[in-house]
Amino acid sequence: MKICVIGTGYVGLVGAAIFSDWGNTIVGVDIDSEKIERIKKGEMPIYEPGLSEIVLKNISEGRLSFTTSLSEGMRDAEIVFVCVGTPQSETGDADLTAVWKVAEEIGRNLETYKVIVLKSTVPVGTNEKVKKLIKDNLRFNTEFDVVSNPEFLREGYSIEDMKNPDRTVIGSDSPKALSIMKSLYAHLGKPIVEADFKSAEMIKYASNAFLASKISFINEMAQICERSGADVSVVAKGMGLDSRVGPKFLNAGIGYGGSCFPKDVAALYKTSTDQAYDFKLLRGVMEVNELQKNYFVSKIVRYFGGNLSGKTFGVLGLAFKENTDDIRESVAIEVVRILRGLGAYLKVFDPQAMYNSKKVLGEVDIKYCLDKYEAIEDTDALIILTEWKEFGTIDLERVKNSLKNHVIFDGRNILDRKKAEEAGFTYFAIGKRTNGTELLSKRPTGTPGVILKNGD
Ligand code: UGA
Repeated sequence: MKICVIGTGYVGLVGAAIFSDWGNTIVGVDIDSEKIERIKKGEMPIYEPGLSEIVLKNISEGRLSFTTSLSEGMRDAEIVFVCVGTPQSETGDADLTAVWKVAEEIGRNLETYKVIVLKSTVPVGTNEKVKKLIKDNLRFNTEFDVVSNPEFLREGYSIEDMKNPDRTVIGSDSPKALSIMKSLYAHLGKPIVEADFKSAEMIKYASNAFLASKISFINEMAQICERSGADVSVVAKGMGLDSRVGPKFLNAGIGYGGSCFPKDVAALYKTSTDQAYDFKLLRGVMEVNELQKNYFVSKIVRYFGGNLSGKTFGVLGLAFKENTDDIRESVAIEVVRILRGLGAYLKVFDPQAMYNSKKVLGEVDIKYCLDKYEAIEDTDALIILTEWKEFGTIDLERVKNSLKNHVIFDGRNILDRKKAEEAGFTYFAIGKRTNGTELLSKRPTGTPGVILKNGD
């Protein structure tokens, strides 16, 4: 099949690469000429394991090319995927400026029948509006169909997710378009959910909001576990083995971040209020997530007697999760900002997100280190903020020899509590009581109230 993919972000670039790897002929389009030139050379604008190899292979085999010209890119295509960004606007809903712009341009350039597919995450009603916008901008009386085909890939695992999806959602009002889309995905042998536009759009938001709810649920469970002496990891394991619950997205931590969950939960909440309904559960999900990092920071502040000035911390992790260089809405970055604001000096390390982090955090009171061991050298505590696997296997003896105080604050529950305690550390995690320390339910003196809000 001949396919045009508009937008070379995570969804567009991975989509273009995998569609071409399936034997289709793909033209990727982006307005950023510098980015296009880099991609052509195999320099990926994002860190995504395995992506560069697939892109280069398909370019060299003639199935994948890139251009900055939308009219050129879509000329011969049977399917045109729209994969442009839909960031959060100031009012909480999705900013659809890029989608509208692309829809108008598609309309102006449509000369033969094509299926126009929205892969970007867009609120209910957007596909219908896109259809109207394309129609209003047609220069010829060309036939076309619009399809909603939301993407469920996770950053860091997007290649695997595209090749092996749990399901494919196709929202369409046209049997012809549905059959074309089905033929693109049929070889995967995975369930295809046929839907109307609005249900397809809603499935994407509902899925992300539900996963975010699982995280906030387990983070609140962590609060009760810690207070009552239970261990949230054991509780999550026991819950997750129930097939109705499932084991995934039950890792308690410092809260969810990234370019999707915070934005999509807020957008779905906005949709609910626009429909004159207050989605109470989602309000709670967002509030819990907002407070979770404060709760974590309050443990550090409490341990050091309410005063962090003059303290130096070894911080592992800046990306919003493991396996990515993405720091958008990263809770790790927020925690670094809070700690610095409270007077601490930070030695930081992340396997992939150093460059991006430096751009937003600057260099005041932060040292960017070459590896995890340099980051903890001669510091007052080890603080883990991202769930990179390599942090879970850190040599605890080396850590012990490097730290001035034998204390670890593990914001991702990535270390083994027993091993850390046996190695002689005071180990603070999420949802596990720390041996030999008081419960957080008592307020320390001299600590900023805002930080303690959730630990009061
Ligand atoms: C998420 C969804 O998982 C994808 O299905 C979806 O396609 C994507 O958003 C999107 O809408 O584009 P992603 O943002 O890449 O994918 O990241 P996740 O792996 O879902 O993690 C999101 C956040 O939740 C991270 O900050 C992670 O650290 C946190 N998390 C995840 C937890 O705190 N606990 C968990 O158990 C799982």
